[in-house]
Amino acid sequence: GWKMEDVLQEELKAIQTTVGPDDHVICALSGGVDSTVAATLVHKAIGDRLHCVFVDNGLLRWKERERVMETFESDLHLPVTCIDASEEFLSKLKGVTDPEKKRKIIGNEFIAIFDKFAHDLEQKLVKKKKPEYLVQGTLYPDVIESCPPPGTGRTHSHTIKSHHNVGGLPKDMKLKLIEPLKLLFKDEVRELGRIMGVPQPFLKRHPFPGPGLAVRVPGDVTLENRLDILRRVADEIFVQAIKDAGIYDSIWQAFAVFMPVLTVGVQGDQRTHRYAIALRAVTSQDGMTADWYYFDHKFLADVSTRICNEVPGVNRVLLDITSKPPSTIEWE
Ligand code: XMP
Repeated sequence: GWKMEDVLQEELKAIQTTVGPDDHVICALSGGVDSTVAATLVHKAIGDRLHCVFVDNGLLRWKERERVMETFESDLHLPVTCIDASEEFLSKLKGVTDPEKKRKIIGNEFIAIFDKFAHDLEQKLVKKKKPEYLVQGTLYPDVIESCPPPGTGRTHSHTIKSHHNVGGLPKDMKLKLIEPLKLLFKDEVRELGRIMGVPQPFLKRHPFPGPGLAVRVPGDVTLENRLDILRRVADEIFVQAIKDAGIYDSIWQAFAVFMPVLTVGVQGDQRTHRYAIALRAVTSQDGMTADWYYFDHKFLADVSTRICNEVPGVNRVLLDITSKPPSTIEWE
C-alpha cells in the first residue's frame, strides 16, 4: 500500500544519511523474515557496501544452513559469507542451564564473530575501511519486551527476556547498530518485504528466534543428542505435517520442544525409559500475545504416532495448551 511505500522511501533515506559514502556495513542473516527484509532494504540503500554473514551456531533447524545459503544466492542475489561456528557456541553452552545466561552467551558469541568478520573484511577491502555498522532485524515488539519504554509502568527488572538482538548485546560492542525495522510489527515487515520483491514463501516463514533451538531445549542443550532429536522431530515431522495439512499459513509459529525428563513407556513389548517432546503451535498478530492453536485430533494422533515410531529416544508426546500470557511463545 501507499503507506509502506512511504516507509520504504524514508528508511532508504535514513540509511543513506547515517552511512557515509565510504562506509561499509555488516548484516547478520538468520534466515528469518526480519533479517532478510532488513538486509534487502540496506542493500537497496547502499549496494555492495553491505556484507552479509550467516553464522551456523549449531542451534539451527534441520538443513537450515543449506536452505538459507541457497535462497540468498538464487532468489535474492545477495552475496553471503557462511561461517561455521557451531563448535564455539556449543562448547560455551556446555553445562549452562540458566535461560538468561544461555541468551547472553549466545549474544556475546555472535558479536565476537561479527567483530572478527569486520576485521577480516578490512584486510580485504581495497580502501581498508573497517565496517562500522551492524544491521539488525529488531522489531518493535523486541524493543518493548527487552527494554520497556518509559511511561509503561515497567522497569528494567520487568524485562521478560533478553532478545539476543536487543538486550543481550555486550556493552563494549564496537559495531554501531542500524535497526531499520525498529518501529515495525511483523505484518508490516512482511508488507515491506513484499513491496521490495522478497519472494512470498520467504515472507510467510514462521519466525525463528536468534538463539535458535537453545530456547527450545530447557536446560543444558549439549547433553546427549538433544539438539539432534529436536531437529528431526521439529522439522522433519511436525512442521512438515503442518505444511502437508495446508495449515502452515494459519499458524504464527509451530515447533517442537525437547523435554529434559525421562518417563516410562512400552514400545515393541519392551519397557522403555525415554524423553518426551512437547508440541507448541500458536496464532498471533505480533508475537506480543498469542493463543494456542486448535489442531484436529486425527492430525495430532498421526504426528504423535510418527514421532514415537521414527525418533529414537522418545516415547511420549505432549501438547502445549497455554497462551501468552501466562506463558511465552518460546520456552526460555
Ligand atoms: P516470546 O518467547 O518472548 O517470543 O513470547 C515472541 C516472539 O519473538 C521470538 N523471539 C526472538 N526473536 N531473538 C529473536 O530474533 C530472540 O532472542 C528471540 N526470543 C524470542 C519468538 O520466536 C516469538 O516469535
